Amino acid sequence: MKVVIAGAAGQLGRALTGILANRPNTTLVEIERPTYDVSAPAVSNQIAEIAPDVVINAAAWTDVDGAEANPKAVYAVNALGAAYLADGCARCNALLVQISTNEVFPGTPGRIYREYDLPGPGGVYARSKLAGERAARQRHARTIIARVAWLFAPGGSNFPAKIMAAADRLGALQVVDDEYGNPTYAPDAAAALLALIEQDRPGIYHLVNEGSASRCEFARYILARSGRRDVEVTPIQSSEWPRPAPPPLHAVLVNEAAAALGITLRPWQEAADDYVSVVCAHDA
Ligand SMILES: NC(=O)c1ccc[n+]([C@@H]2O[C@H](COP(=O)([O-])OP(=O)(O)OC[C@H]3O[C@@H](n4cnc5c(N)ncnc54)[C@H](OP(=O)(O)O)[C@@H]3O)[C@@H](O)[C@H]2O)c1
Repeated sequence: MKVVIAGAAGQLGRALTGILANRPNTTLVEIERPTYDVSAPAVSNQIAEIAPDVVINAAAWTDVDGAEANPKAVYAVNALGAAYLADGCARCNALLVQISTNEVFPGTPGRIYREYDLPGPGGVYARSKLAGERAARQRHARTIIARVAWLFAPGGSNFPAKIMAAADRLGALQVVDDEYGNPTYAPDAAAALLALIEQDRPGIYHLVNEGSASRCEFARYILARSGRRDVEVTPIQSSEWPRPAPPPLHAVLVNEAAAALGITLRPWQEAADDYVSVVCAHDA
């Protein structure tokens, strides 16, 4: 099986290549800028020339707050990029896996979101990701939309890494306690994605670690497990932490579709334990 990974150097991309690099009968093609720019129409031809069996699009503009001031550039990557990759996949009948986000949902407090629930994105990033989902599916029927959330992995720029760094710098933290999501370990999401690809069933899937947490709960868990239990954490409301792109408050995903195929992810706390042990071993 020949697998192309766009965004191979990102958090999810690295987790995917980490698994696929050692998999027998697999040819891995990592595509990255500047040679391969998903926002350039030429990428369709490039994909058709590679003629892969599967393309996983983990490339994206992921600076959610920075997206607000740069909508054109954001849509070029997140929406047009998905469309161009879909065109390339259509020409060689490759399976396309388009990675998306919990942020396509409005995140109404108290709600949880299944695969068939209606999206309602807020900011530029979220709208561009939904546009990417739609463009990919419209242009190529053999598309899997895989929504993930709150990704973290060793070496990435992610919430737990920022929390640990801020704790070491400041000694005490204020953390938002009314924004909920599914902390999701990129290596777990990658393994689930590959299991899904083997089943070859196009559709929409939610691949998140089991359970949900507020930002504050997630931060406290990471601090306790990483030997920073004494760091004082004060819960605050998201209104006290204004951001250019206010996140959905309760965009908590439920995995129903992949679970029906036997693909589930472990509780986020177990994944966070693995993350902390890798990061702490690296820092020791
Ligand atoms: N991180 C999260 O918490 C989160 C949550 C929900 C959903 N997601 C989704 O999950 C996917 C993976 O996220 P991630 O955290 O792994 O992202 P990441 O670490 O920010 O990596 C994104 C990758 O995309 C590449 N990229 C950006 N623009 C590109 C372009 N025009 N052409 C080719 N490559 C380009 C980047 O390469 P450069 O180094 O060249 O910039 C980088 O390697 C994305 O679809 C994201 O929207 C992420």
